[in-house]
Amino acid sequence: MTTLPSVVDRRNQYLFPAALASLLFIGSLRILLDNLKNSQHTRSFFRPPTDRYRPPILVSDDETIEDGCNIFEGKWVWDNESHPLYTEQSCPLLVKQVTCQKNGRPDSSYQNWRWQPNACNLPRFNALKLLEMLRDKRLMFVGDSVQRSMFDSMVCLVQSVIPEGKKSLRKVPPRKIFRAEEYNASIEFYWAPFLVESISDHATKHTVMKRLVRLDSISNHSKQWEGVDILVYESYVWWMYKPTINATYGNVENVEEYNVTTAYRIAMETWANWIETSIKSHTQKVFFMTMSPTHLWSWEWKSGDNGNCFGESELIQRPYFGTGSNLDIMGIVKDVLGRLRVNVRLLNITQLSEYRKDGHTSVYGERKGKLLTKEQKSDPKNYADCIHWCLPGVPDTWNEILYGVLLQDYRVFRYHRTQDS
Ligand SMILES: *[C@@H]1O[C@H](CO)[C@@H](O)[C@H](O)[C@H]1NC(C)=O
Ligand SMILES: *[C@@H]1O[C@H](CO)[C@@H](O)[C@H](O)[C@H]1NC(C)=O
Ligand SMILES: *[C@@H]1O[C@H](CO)[C@@H](O)[C@H](O)[C@H]1NC(C)=O
Ligand SMILES: *[C@@H]1O[C@H](CO)[C@@H](O)[C@H](O)[C@H]1NC(C)=O
Ligand SMILES: *[C@@H]1O[C@H](CO)[C@@H](O)[C@H](O)[C@H]1NC(C)=O
Ligand SMILES: *[C@@H]1O[C@H](CO)[C@@H](O)[C@H](O)[C@H]1NC(C)=O
Repeated sequence: MTTLPSVVDRRNQYLFPAALASLLFIGSLRILLDNLKNSQHTRSFFRPPTDRYRPPILVSDDETIEDGCNIFEGKWVWDNESHPLYTEQSCPLLVKQVTCQKNGRPDSSYQNWRWQPNACNLPRFNALKLLEMLRDKRLMFVGDSVQRSMFDSMVCLVQSVIPEGKKSLRKVPPRKIFRAEEYNASIEFYWAPFLVESISDHATKHTVMKRLVRLDSISNHSKQWEGVDILVYESYVWWMYKPTINATYGNVENVEEYNVTTAYRIAMETWANWIETSIKSHTQKVFFMTMSPTHLWSWEWKSGDNGNCFGESELIQRPYFGTGSNLDIMGIVKDVLGRLRVNVRLLNITQLSEYRKDGHTSVYGERKGKLLTKEQKSDPKNYADCIHWCLPGVPDTWNEILYGVLLQDYRVFRYHRTQDS
């Protein structure tokens, strides 16, 4: 039998030094369902059209998440009829980092799973309805490359229903902007791997090896978040390189090593302060994604094994929560969001994604901006990427959930308009 990693390994396991160094080179909180309470906010958020008449989109009750249903508790069910929601071929905008099939991945079943909450159904994703909800609005994903894949996924989910010439994808560093002209709607990505300012903020020239975070500074970023209608935040893996991180607080000349958990909390509080002073709840919605799990150590699900996510084509079919998802960080998120006076909704996708050891790009993605060579592919122990996800794949589910929540708010808005008229 192969020896198990030592106790020391287990303790340090939440750090991803090798994986990050190689990959990231380039480039009560209010639970979801209390929206009835916010219905007056919702009403003005989805403001009725004033200038020209637009028929309202119809949302039937069986399309929306039932009130009180925890959509994050459930199971993955095989559904190759409805999933994937798009294909690598149908979405030419996909970057080659995530097109695992094109990059030689032999199995494709990772595309065919649908998330099924225990207590209700997720509405089926409808791109036209999403675009209608985004009419005259900006939806912005903020975070690191994992968050960028959620942006990529959302673009793929909607782009096929928009005719050529009526859509565009532009790079305006640190943003990527997808526009749907006929809807005057934008879906954007904003690169900010620590949310607060850091020396890693250049959209393409950044390295994880050298990090310096300015824990109390966010304005360079936040001035570009002002007025955005829907903001979806995430920040995790970039913090998890070493147990400490170089950072400044106050005086920018005064660099100190902080415990990662301490630094994360301070950064989150800086972010939270900005949210509280700048977000207008009646016109803006804010979401926060919990950490995207990694599958870097296969002995966690297969005792005695010494690999990683490479070669995994099945889901974990038992209760499972990997040590890569740091519970201290989870606790900080809970704490900070719980004390916010502005409604920031948590999309707690960690547990559901934990089961998906089959979903990562593994050796069918990029490293330092290039697809792996044949030699590198044959060395998964050193070269597999068990942080990022193939598309179509797991991030589509995160977007199905986001869509479901937005649709639910929209239904509430419709209800009130009917009452008014
Ligand atoms: C869908 O899955 C079922 C069960 O695994 C299989 O028999 C069927 O061939 C699959 N259909 C397609 C189109 O892949
Ligand atoms: C287009 O959308 C932007 C927000 O993204 C909004 O400020 C602007 O008023 C909209 N234009 C029209 C003509 O509605
Ligand atoms: C923030 O912006 C200012 C002015 O553009 C610049 O001097 C400063 O270096 C930026 N800070 C960071 C951390 O990039
Ligand atoms: C912090 O910076 C110093 C000086 O550049 C460096 O020696 C040290 O390794 C850095 N610490 C971390 C945790 O990166
Ligand atoms: C840093 O973390 C270690 C391990 O969790 C802990 O023992 C230590 O007290 C922390 N230091 C500070 C300054 O918080
Ligand atoms: C997210 O859900 C997990 C269980 O699935 C829970 O342990 C964790 O505390 C939740 N996170 C937050 C921030 O509420």
